[in-house]
Amino acid sequence: MQGILVRNSSLSMIYVKNINKKHFTRVRISMKITYQIRKEHPELLDGIDRLIAMKKGEEKRHQGLREMMINLDAHAKGEEQTIFPALLDLDKTKTIALRAWEEHRVLRIIMAEETVTGLNDDIWLPRLVVLRNFIKMHMQHEEDEVLNKADELLPESSLKELGKKFDFVKKTVKKTYITQIIA
Ligand SMILES: [Fe+2]
Ligand SMILES: [Fe+2]
Repeated sequence: MQGILVRNSSLSMIYVKNINKKHFTRVRISMKITYQIRKEHPELLDGIDRLIAMKKGEEKRHQGLREMMINLDAHAKGEEQTIFPALLDLDKTKTIALRAWEEHRVLRIIMAEETVTGLNDDIWLPRLVVLRNFIKMHMQHEEDEVLNKADELLPESSLKELGKKFDFVKKTVKKTYITQIIA
């Protein structure tokens, strides 16, 4: 297709403006999962930082917490159903994958505690900061070891296939939350 790239609205979708006709065409492209995860990490941290910056008692805190939990859960499940099992299958990276999985388990314990803690409770914000710091450490581990090893050991075609599945899993997880709200 001949056209001009006008907008990149998501990791896996670009909009191309046709040269002759004045319309946009959505084109699906394949991104490597390692690229997708690296791009998403700072976005997730920004979401947590915005929540930390909200004032005590603010109504937005409730919505912000919910959004943060959904985004983190979708990201974590996306990794658990794609890149972690792929690395678990390789002798060289089995321990790295198991450690990342274990960090997700601990992460979920802190997330669950934060969810049941009252938004105006004095411990709510310090607990959120601890959660943020733990997530930052976990992301660093993923970027330094998990993703670097995946880039080194997995063929590009597999990384792109995993990227598609990562997108699919995240969308499915987010849809489940929306269905829960409507039901
Ligand atoms: Fe992770
Ligand atoms: Fe991650």
